[in-house]
Amino acid sequence: MIKYVVKPLPKVKVKLVSWEEIVDWAWNLAKIIKKDGYKPDVIVALARGGYVPGRLLCDFLDVENLLSIQSQHWTEAAKAEERAIIKFPYKVDLSNYTVLVVDDIVDTGDTLKLARDYVAEHWNPKQLKTAALQWISPVAKFKPDYYYIEVTDWTWFQYPWTRLEDTYQFIKRIVTETYKETGKKEWTYEEMVETFKEWYGIDVGDRYYKDALEILIEKKILEYNEETKKYIYIAG
Ligand code: ADE
Repeated sequence: MIKYVVKPLPKVKVKLVSWEEIVDWAWNLAKIIKKDGYKPDVIVALARGGYVPGRLLCDFLDVENLLSIQSQHWTEAAKAEERAIIKFPYKVDLSNYTVLVVDDIVDTGDTLKLARDYVAEHWNPKQLKTAALQWISPVAKFKPDYYYIEVTDWTWFQYPWTRLEDTYQFIKRIVTETYKETGKKEWTYEEMVETFKEWYGIDVGDRYYKDALEILIEKKILEYNEETKKYIYIAG
């Protein structure tokens, strides 16, 4: 009899993005904006993904004024919530300012579009444009005025600022889906890391795996058995 193990395929294509790549992408994005002659005097970083790109654009475009607004759509790594909302709406008067709303990625396009529309309506800017490091052209309903990378094959970009969050959500997915398919509940640390690398094709390093497992224990999704040195999935 042939004995084989059923290995669920990774549900998403993932690319690990480094801090160096982020700096490079933001630098190139700044060059595109400059070349176009757009000179924002306020950058609005869309929370949370637009914070680092927005701050880097402030540096590369020599912009002193940095504001933020939170528009949320994606609450779990690589899984879409139903719709985008402005989380903490507030008003400022930007009638004397040229504004650039910045995000990390335009995926469905809902969040950046909503933020752009909100800023246009409630903050009254003199001029308003949008920018993102990446734009997923086949799925986005909204195209930013400026972007550096056009993504043509949908991918989950594992940005450095969501590394821990993504890691624990990916591990959670591994344990829940494996339990559903095989009934497996107990995992050694090594097994967990190997499966993570196999499913997602990336390696985030021990520090992230360890902290992610701690979070899953805090969230009562996993339990650690000191004697067997195994992580146990708490099903149900
Ligand atoms: N946020 C929304 N879509 C994303 C994607 N494809 N990769 C990383 N972060 C995202």
